[in-house]
Amino acid sequence: MKGYKWPLMKNTLSFMDRVKLAKFILSSDRFTQGKRVKEFEDAWSKWLGCKYSLYVTSGSTANFLLIASIIEKYGLKPGDKVLLPACTWVTNINPIFQLGLTPVFCDISLEDYSFDTDSLSYIKEKHPDIKLVFVTHLLGIPAKVSIYKEYFPEAIFLDDVCESHGATINNTKVGSNSLGATFSFYFGHHMSTIEGGMVSTNNKDSYDLMKMKEGSDNEATIIGYEAGKGKRTGKRGKGVRMDDEGREGGGKRGKVVNETDRANIREKRKE
Ligand SMILES: Cc1ncc(COP(=O)(O)O)c(C=O)c1O
Repeated sequence: MKGYKWPLMKNTLSFMDRVKLAKFILSSDRFTQGKRVKEFEDAWSKWLGCKYSLYVTSGSTANFLLIASIIEKYGLKPGDKVLLPACTWVTNINPIFQLGLTPVFCDISLEDYSFDTDSLSYIKEKHPDIKLVFVTHLLGIPAKVSIYKEYFPEAIFLDDVCESHGATINNTKVGSNSLGATFSFYFGHHMSTIEGGMVSTNNKDSYDLMKMKEGSDNEATIIGYEAGKGKRTGKRGKGVRMDDEGREGGGKRGKVVNETDRANIREKRKE
């Protein structure tokens, strides 16, 4: 089709949005994790109808955090299989590789761009050991999650709603009753914060793990979380970490100390 153009996205910011942004930039000296972020998280949970929401830098970050927390919560092992639709976003697949899991792709139905049920029957036979199913609700179309669950009743289900904020199934917003649902507020989406993402859950453990992982590094594994403790009271809490040698502690990033270490440090100070 000559001359036919359908751009991936267009500017969604109005002139007045820009004025509001400019006013905010000029009147604030806090540009990250300010009180408006918490207000947005709470308003989002209320709007979606879920218990907890965590605002992050992008839908891609939301996907990574969610998968990482699920691996820890359910003790998934390297190589465990994750089912994904053949048509999804690249950052739904990246964390699967990055975090040592194995993707299994299922063909899609052209009706809703999610799993094709004939292909699901085939995959169920070939891969009865699928541990995780990461559903993508593409282009505002809710996927038929309850049907997929019949094929893999033992699997853990997660929802990528990055393109489908506000889509409903039986008057219920997609992602509201999920163990973990991710959203993108990228510039091209119909709800935007220019860049940004949200991960929503009804599970307190997952929420706490994700809050910790948001600020964690690779030098220690987060094995627990104590809400309301630590430097950023009310926001991050205190992480209980374990280093490569299996030592538990709650120290600073990259500095894992346990009670014995603390006692040694105290002794050294006395010398
Ligand atoms: C289905 C889907 N998942 C994930 C993402 C990633 O979101 P972000 O661009 O905010 O990283 C997108 C982005 O548009 C998306 O459409």
